[in-house]
This record gives sequence, structure tokens and C-alpha cells, in this order.
Amino acid sequence: MPVMNFMTPCIFDHGALGKLQRTLQGLGASKPFIVTDPGIKAAGLLERVTEALSGEPAGIFAETLPNPIEAQAREATAQYQKCGADSIIALGGGSSMDMAKIVGLMATHEGPYEKYAAKTGGAKYIGKIPPLVAIPTTSGTGSEVSVGAVVILDTGVKETIVSPNLIPATAICDPTLTLGLPAHLTAATGMDAVTHCIEAVLSPRENPPCEAIGYDGVHRAIGDGWLKRAVTDGSDEEARYHMMMASYEGALAFMKGLGGVHALSHAAGRLHEKRLHHGTLNAIFLPHLLRANEGVADAKYARLRFAMGLAEGADLGEAVDQLNADIGIPAKLSAIGVEASDGPGIVEGALKDLAHFSNAKPLDQGDYERIFEAAL
Ligand SMILES: [Fe+2]
Repeated sequence: MPVMNFMTPCIFDHGALGKLQRTLQGLGASKPFIVTDPGIKAAGLLERVTEALSGEPAGIFAETLPNPIEAQAREATAQYQKCGADSIIALGGGSSMDMAKIVGLMATHEGPYEKYAAKTGGAKYIGKIPPLVAIPTTSGTGSEVSVGAVVILDTGVKETIVSPNLIPATAICDPTLTLGLPAHLTAATGMDAVTHCIEAVLSPRENPPCEAIGYDGVHRAIGDGWLKRAVTDGSDEEARYHMMMASYEGALAFMKGLGGVHALSHAAGRLHEKRLHHGTLNAIFLPHLLRANEGVADAKYARLRFAMGLAEGADLGEAVDQLNADIGIPAKLSAIGVEASDGPGIVEGALKDLAHFSNAKPLDQGDYERIFEAAL
């Protein structure tokens, strides 16, 4: 039975950051704690946020690692509690958003944190967290409106924690914050957004509003050409606006579920030492899953062709191959450091991933093995 919930307020426009102070006041918050990462600080975006506040923030944690770990979240939570903050501002891409959500969880919930993991039904233990305002600086993850956070626990296991209580109280989406994002990250994060939209559409779960939103995201990013424009000219404000919208829409859409692309890229992302980019992995796997799922959702494929601006009967996999080539994403996993010996672990991980269970059609070990081999 579908559960449809689109309640997260989102302030969305060039200059939306100017609404930060009023947003905090509206949430009854006066002492925000900012969670971000070193790259955001170096790029001057942290300063733009502190300037948008009427006073000093209660505290700042700007050390978030690319994949949040429990030990670091504990350290940030101790700082949050020590400075007497009453709210959290998440500033950055997926990692800073996730870190901020975990800090909110730890500040209000006792460990051990394994019990909150989505795969064991941990959501039932998760109550309210402090007011969280999310300000994305990339256009891809859509974490500003999503229910989840990913953290590597002390046990070494990367867990996804999911609860409606982890959805930020308000998202402030200001596309001007993405103007300085380099072309390769614009491409990779943009393909993450595209993959969210496409996998959500193809998921067999019933949720017509999510499906409609997914088509619109695909249309903006691909059909209207805004992803290519944003990659070609990072200073194109209109392209940045549409890609931030496609990213936001992707996260709204994937409430309906994801699919085999994310099952595989989540599993590959657990090869921590290889530091594989989630969006790049999705972009490489996507054409293969579009081929594997062909024939089970013909009406949706026809609508996706329309959203992508393709001719009737065009091959979706080929179209994504071409798009990847146009925006500088490698065609093969081997080009980003994945080896044949990584295959069994990735396939095993994909079969257990939450996204696997909402793929357009059921996939088995042999299917994933063939897809991995073709993508390698
Ligand atoms: Fe994703």
C-alpha cells in the first residue's frame, strides 16, 4: 500500500540562503550548530552561511569525512552538546547531510547504533531529532529531503539508517551554491539524480505522484539538456537551477524505491579503499540495468524516451551510454579502479541491498554477475 508524504518545506531559488535566519526563527531555533566538510569551508560556502545568520553560530564542525564514520559523528555530537546548540544546519553534499542527521540522532538517542539500522527495522526506535535545516551544495543526492543517512559504524559495517524523523525540517536549495562545482563532480552528481529519477519510475511499487516527479527530473536533466549545459559551463545559473531541481525531484521520487543500479553501486561503494564515487558508479551501471529491465515496463520506457527527448523505440541504454560519453564519465568500471576480483563481493552485497528489492523485475545472482561483467 503506498504511503505518500511530501511534507518537507523547501525554499528553492537563487538567493534562497537569504531565508536561513527566518527559517531558523520559524523553527524556534536560535543557536544553530553547522555540520559541513573541509572542501565546503575552503570553497567559501561556509562563510556565506555564517554571513546569512544574524549572530554567530553556537558551533561549527567542518571536518566531515567523505564517508561518515561513527567515531567522528560521536566527536561532532560531543561538540554539539558542549556548545549548547538547539538546532543543526547541514551544509554540503551527501556526506555532510548524513553526518548532520547522525549527529541529530546521537544527540537524542542512546547507542549502540546498530539497532537503528534500516535492515533490521530500526526506524521504530527513532524519535524526534533537533530541528535540522539542510542546505545542499551539490545537485545529486537529494539528501535534503530524504529519510536516510549512511554511516560506517564502529563495527566496520556501513549501515543505512532510515526514519521520517531524519528528514530535515526545512531544505534551503540555493543553486548559486553549486556554481563553483567542478565539471567532473557536476557530471557524477547529476547522474546520481538522473538514476534516482529513472529507478524510481521503474520500481514496481505503486506511487503515481513519485513516478510523475521522476519523469520531470529526467526531462529537465536530459530532455531539456540542462545536465550537459551545467557540465559544459558551470557558471550557467539556469542550468544549475534545473539540476538542483532534478536532484530534489530525484529524492522525492525515490520514496517509491530504487533498483539494481543502486543495489550494485551501494555494494561497490563499500570498497572503501577504492573511494569510488557513488554518482559515477550509478552512471556506469545505469545503461546495463536499462537493458536488463527491458520488456517488463514498456509503457514506462516509452514515457522515459519522451522525457529524454528520444525517438519512439530508441534504445535507452544506448542513450545513457552516449550521455555518459558526452559528459566525460567512463564507460567501464575498470577505468575507475574496479577489478574482476571485486565482482563476487559486489554481487553478494547487491543481493542484500534494500534497493535490490524494488528493482523493475526480480534479479538473481546470475543477472548481477552478467551485469557486473558487462560493466567491467
Ligand atoms: Fe544515489
